[in-house]
Amino acid sequence: MAIDRFGRNIHYLRISLTDHCNLRCVYCMAEDMTFQPNADLMQDDEILFFTRLFAGFGFDKIRLTGGEPTVRANVVELVRGIASTEGVRSVSMTTNGLLLKKLAQPLAAAGLQRVNVSIDTLNPEKFKRLTRWGKLEDVWEGILAAEKARLAPIKINAVAVKGYNEEDMVDLAALTIERPWQVRFIEMMPFASATDLQVNQVVTMAQIRQHIESEFGKLEVSNEGRLDGEAQVFHIRGAKGNVGFISSVTHPFCADCTRARLTSDGKLRLCLLREKEVDLLTPLRAGASFEELRRLILNGIWDKPWGHGLAEGFIPLNRAMSEIGG
Ligand code: 5AD
Ligand code: SF4
Repeated sequence: MAIDRFGRNIHYLRISLTDHCNLRCVYCMAEDMTFQPNADLMQDDEILFFTRLFAGFGFDKIRLTGGEPTVRANVVELVRGIASTEGVRSVSMTTNGLLLKKLAQPLAAAGLQRVNVSIDTLNPEKFKRLTRWGKLEDVWEGILAAEKARLAPIKINAVAVKGYNEEDMVDLAALTIERPWQVRFIEMMPFASATDLQVNQVVTMAQIRQHIESEFGKLEVSNEGRLDGEAQVFHIRGAKGNVGFISSVTHPFCADCTRARLTSDGKLRLCLLREKEVDLLTPLRAGASFEELRRLILNGIWDKPWGHGLAEGFIPLNRAMSEIGG
């Protein structure tokens, strides 16, 4: 078991398969973003090696992220390898959905259990403006393909950005009335690459909730008030699905954090919003022994920061969001 010095059992690993992406969301990266050369990213065998190592320390829940995980060559085979690793009980993916139309079925057959698809508005023009390159219809078809492949329950991630889509949260919430989906509103967090917008155009959870409640009435508590992952969950009266609020900025959930991240270039990132990382890929490539890697990982986890420092004005600037994985 991997325990940190605050007694948290860390057993959820988010692996960024690549920092590359086929979109350029304004709140994530600059349009001329440069990506890391493939040789600097973890190779397939290295990802599978780390998965086995972490699973041996009790990590039973894996989420694949990016950048955009589906643009990674060989992603289906990688999922198959990860899902069949001893000790891994669940494998899910956070994706922008563009390629799901083609990949949902093969990914599900390879052992993927669920997907979270990012979609920040149901208005095609606004979607294009937010993602710079995206076509809403492709994502929508991707979500339907995921549902057909039983990558369920479908979860939708939405980030509200002032001046872009803050009113659109109402339509997104309305999706849950007829569909058994969870639409989760994520408060925008600051990183490198798009920092000004991330700091100045935040829409708080309270504001989003107010928009939704002014349309549908007071939201009712779901999940007996317990967090679902990092989301507080509610539902519109009579709805089939529910809405979640991930208010990392205004209501941090650090006390309940069980996660660690592996960046696409093989660094163990202990907190999304703290710069501290432990390089694992360089030692692995230099021939480190199992014992050395074990010590690096378990010591790193022991020293996991308690939580983020946004309230004190600390913004992690050593990486863009797309290099860490959400
Ligand atoms: N703040 C909050 N969420 C973000 N995402 C990307 N950048 C940010 C940010 N700065 C979201 C994406 C996706 C998930 C991986 O994280 O929209 O849903
Ligand atoms: Fe790509 Fe996701 Fe960043 Fe958008 S938020 S540019 S889809 S990595």
